[in-house]
Amino acid sequence: MRHLLSPLDFSVEELDSLLDLASDIEKNPDKYKHACDGKKLATLFYEPSTRTRLSFESAMLSLGGNVLGFADAGSSSAQKGESVSDTIRIISCYADICAMRHPKEGAPLVAASHSSIPVINAGDGGHQHPTQTLTDLMTIRSLKGRLDNLTIGLCGDLKFGRTVHSLINALVRYPNISFVLISPKELRLPDYIRQDVLEANNVPYKEVEELEDSMTNLDILYMTRVQRERFFNEDEYVRLKDRYILTPEKLEYAHKDMLILHPLPRVNEISVAVDNDPRAVYFKQVQYGVYVRMALILTLLNINI
Ligand code: CP
Repeated sequence: MRHLLSPLDFSVEELDSLLDLASDIEKNPDKYKHACDGKKLATLFYEPSTRTRLSFESAMLSLGGNVLGFADAGSSSAQKGESVSDTIRIISCYADICAMRHPKEGAPLVAASHSSIPVINAGDGGHQHPTQTLTDLMTIRSLKGRLDNLTIGLCGDLKFGRTVHSLINALVRYPNISFVLISPKELRLPDYIRQDVLEANNVPYKEVEELEDSMTNLDILYMTRVQRERFFNEDEYVRLKDRYILTPEKLEYAHKDMLILHPLPRVNEISVAVDNDPRAVYFKQVQYGVYVRMALILTLLNINI
């Protein structure tokens, strides 16, 4: 039995196979519509979500399976003090696979160690969000045609943005990748990613504070929201929340084929005036998220079609 807790749980070859499967699902959805007949996915969401929870549910329903779960810890027995390890023992009796989002870093890892079904990390605190990374990789591979030879700008809250941490972990394994890290000092990428992932793998990167400075060199611009829910101090959030706002004027300096990604939800960091720019692919990204989650469910349940 396998879990997905970090993007590193899959080798590059396994990731490429999973993305191939997701692309086949995109092209031939009917082939997969009974692949999970009789199977159940539990979605255990201790933190708010729109995309991740509903795309998992949509994925399982598109595979012919069923879904159950909770969208709010307050409506589960966590409210009465039940531990994650006890909860997963119970869910293992009800479902074949589960996706868990939790505000505490490492909670899905704890669940996996007490589970008899595959556990998928659907986001744990400010740590990792591996299925968003699968979504991002499919978006880049589908629209750029490659996952190597890319300069990627990561902009916004690089401290708490778990999607950024997971994406860096995944991309450093491909050849000729470099990063431009665009954030205020207060929201810099944490050392455990900068030193232990980028520097340990000799991946070139530079840190800048102004978005405009590096726009001309990017193949991908990955915008992120400032993660209000991770701040201890509301005044600090208010001071930093609108530090970066991508506008059509700023995009005049970008390559004509640069892609703009965002894991969403968006707050103010991308002006709605950018949405009609052909380089803005964040809504397409959402659709790829369903195909990769379908591929992930099939892979972890060991179902071959
Ligand atoms: N991208 C993402 O994780 O969105 P949700 O928080 O809506 O699931």
